[in-house]
Amino acid sequence: MKSNTEKFGKTPHQPSLWTRADALKVRADDPTTTQPLVSANFPVLSDEVFIWDTMPLRDIDGNITSVDGWSVIFTLTADRHPNDPQYLDQNGNYDITRDWNDRHGRAKMYYWFSRTGKDWELGGRVMAEGVSPTVREWAGTPILLNEQGEVDLYYTAVTPGATIVKVRGRVVTTEHGVSLVGFEKVKPLFEADGKMYQTEAQNAFWGFRDPWPFRDPKDSKLYMLFEGNVAGERGSHKVGEAEVGDVPPGYEDVGNSRFQTACVGIAVARDEDGDDWEMLPPLLTAVGVNDQTERPHFVFQDGKYYLFTISHTFTYADGVTGPDGVYGFVADSLFGPYVPLNGSGLVLGNPSSQPFQTYSHCVMPNGLVTSFIDSVPTDETGTQIRIGGTEAPTVGIKIKGQQTFVVAEYDYGYIPPMLDVTLK
Ligand code: FRU
Repeated sequence: MKSNTEKFGKTPHQPSLWTRADALKVRADDPTTTQPLVSANFPVLSDEVFIWDTMPLRDIDGNITSVDGWSVIFTLTADRHPNDPQYLDQNGNYDITRDWNDRHGRAKMYYWFSRTGKDWELGGRVMAEGVSPTVREWAGTPILLNEQGEVDLYYTAVTPGATIVKVRGRVVTTEHGVSLVGFEKVKPLFEADGKMYQTEAQNAFWGFRDPWPFRDPKDSKLYMLFEGNVAGERGSHKVGEAEVGDVPPGYEDVGNSRFQTACVGIAVARDEDGDDWEMLPPLLTAVGVNDQTERPHFVFQDGKYYLFTISHTFTYADGVTGPDGVYGFVADSLFGPYVPLNGSGLVLGNPSSQPFQTYSHCVMPNGLVTSFIDSVPTDETGTQIRIGGTEAPTVGIKIKGQQTFVVAEYDYGYIPPMLDVTLK
């Protein structure tokens, strides 16, 4: 398998590298990049369903948008099964951990609305059963298109395969709430190609998902970020000097890190409606560093491109590690070169005493970071846990040049609008 330079040599841009040397700078529990402890006494959005990845309604420029004063969020959602014999343990008690861990296989897109940007009311499922072509409805982005309330929901249709798709519908408001209508025809957009982006045939653990369309504030073209892995048969990737970076003596051994091949993908639209896309080489690769750079998204600030992506401890390669959380990179132009924020990339990680407290962070242009609660320890040793499946407290960060700082904490699931659109 070729190195980055050999592989993407003749393309319009070179992917930036998140190197092993960068990752060696990750410091868990640095207070400026660590999420405040989440209390085990958190409130739960719903006793009926688990929610995790949260996707606020926004416009194509990234602004979180309410409609007629109603905030709207989309969430990956799965029923809770407290009475299902399948989820009872040997003593007949509900095994919520197993139910929670199984959720990805039955993920469906739901929506919620609110007058206050918190205290979300359940709207229901976005697409009726049978509309989405695959079993799993995985993460993506809802975009408010116009004052008629039209919404393009980009998401990932998974099992069988993994396809970036979109479905168009409309948001309708009344004095009492919000409903989503339409969302009946799913259009497949693209899949991994095996040349730039790894396919299922090349690696059964491949990732290809989480579309995030946007308009480049500088060239005004329509693009889309997504999560991928660098193409090539599993195990064939090379972790060379470029991927290792400038490491101290004794840190040259890369172990089995060739199996970790995450990248942030990018595609450009050939049309204004975003129905026809061309994949481009990745913006950022993490070969030899990490196997997942999930839900990539941008904040455009001070003329710079702040690229954020979530990742896990368990997806790091041999010899490097870091907390579950959101990582970031900055560049002066869309195609880079990208530099890791705070030297390492880490922007907001879980504290080591509660390593799974939150995940799936989304950094919004107002500096607010939303995430969901995964599990919080309920005793000193961390052996007893409480499963979340609900919104975490929102965190405020300040982005300054190549650094970020945690500066505030807000209420659970606080996602205030940045602008309001009055529907015609
Ligand atoms: C992040 C994530 C996404 C994916 C979804 C599946 O939490 O892994 O990348 O779309 O969850 O449940």
